[in-house]
Amino acid sequence: MPRAMRIGVAREIKSQEYRVALTPAGARELTQRGHEVLVETDAGLGSAFADDAYERAGASIVPVDDVWTRAELLLKVKEPIASEYKRLREGLTLFTYLHIAADEPLTRALADSGITAIAYETVETDRGALPLLAPMSEIAGRLAPQAGAHHLEKPKGGRGTLLGGVAGVAPGRVVVIGGGIVGYNAAVIALGLGAQVTILERSVDRMRHLEEVLSGRVSLLMSSSLQVEESLTDADLVIGAVLIPGALAPKLVTRDMLHEMKEGSVFVDVAIDQGGCAETSHPTTHDEPVYTVEGVIHYCVANMPGAVPITSTRALTNVTLPYVEAIAEDGAIQAVQRDPALAQGVNVLAGRVTYEAVAEAHGLDYTPLEDALAAGVA
Ligand SMILES: NC(=O)c1ccc[n+]([C@@H]2O[C@H](COP(=O)([O-])OP(=O)(O)OC[C@H]3O[C@@H](n4cnc5c(N)ncnc54)[C@H](O)[C@@H]3O)[C@@H](O)[C@H]2O)c1
Repeated sequence: MPRAMRIGVAREIKSQEYRVALTPAGARELTQRGHEVLVETDAGLGSAFADDAYERAGASIVPVDDVWTRAELLLKVKEPIASEYKRLREGLTLFTYLHIAADEPLTRALADSGITAIAYETVETDRGALPLLAPMSEIAGRLAPQAGAHHLEKPKGGRGTLLGGVAGVAPGRVVVIGGGIVGYNAAVIALGLGAQVTILERSVDRMRHLEEVLSGRVSLLMSSSLQVEESLTDADLVIGAVLIPGALAPKLVTRDMLHEMKEGSVFVDVAIDQGGCAETSHPTTHDEPVYTVEGVIHYCVANMPGAVPITSTRALTNVTLPYVEAIAEDGAIQAVQRDPALAQGVNVLAGRVTYEAVAEAHGLDYTPLEDALAAGVA
């Protein structure tokens, strides 16, 4: 017999975060299944969802204290910030992006509180895919040529090249380093703008796939230090999109290579959230997205999807909703026991750190998830 759950949706209070963890469409799916949905006042405003849109979907609009104290399952987009730590409590399941391997105070606050915390970013299928990260990679990839094209304009300090060219004038050259989700999406948009596109990849299988899906419209080259160096010299826009899972991005672009690049060319380092793939990359924000090194404009915004919350919110809830439904129907513990992908997402279970890399990163005790479940700590 399916149970009804009380699901809270908190308003994001982190600076420059406009996304919300549930759309009115998602709220309706949940209320139709008999669940109670509590949405914090104005939670959807940054993504252009007014409170009454949620009310029409059967949700209740409530103040912040009610959302946190009454919910059994709390949905957020970003990790709780320090002022929210006091709201973490036993009996609550939190489902959000957490990234706690890099955040010791939050890890300790979660463990001390007795909460169960499931991180979007570590939900992982048996084939190694990260279904709750993928849409943000798609968005960042699609934004990258757009940001690059903007900063290539002369009044923005760029070289003054139109990526699409015109009849009789050659298009701009775009080099994408890394042909994964970000790289593929960046290539699609750069092609759409009319640019000449090259992708440097390390995996031959991935290149075969890209050749097929992009119908031979891009040049695909094996990535090596020499190839990167040679490709950069005549590029107008370079997009960094490499990922080595669980590791910092490799520094494929050196300061010396920048000397050889054209003055006013643009480097969009999407991989900046893993440290960036150039020696000269450091994280920037949407307020001040670029800086220039050796004549090359660097765009290194670590949360690119935050610029387009209306798209990002919908893309995020499209992929989180099936998991939310499973947790709501079965309860967190049973849902995790049934779905190994969701189980990978559990970072903290009833106050015990169940994700080894997180425990290791902060010198905390690690309890394997099965042991935590078997111990009946939930
Ligand atoms: N800045 C942002 O807002 C933002 C948003 C989303 C994702 N990202 C980041 O973008 C990066 C790429 O993410 P993704 O989802 O596309 O990952 P992915 O795993 O789908 O793709 C990475 C690709 O890089 C390739 N690669 C690895 N080493 C390489 C090398 N030396 N040369 C060329 N290619 C190499 C891999 O073979 C793989 O195809 C990650 O660091 C991710 O965290 C950033």
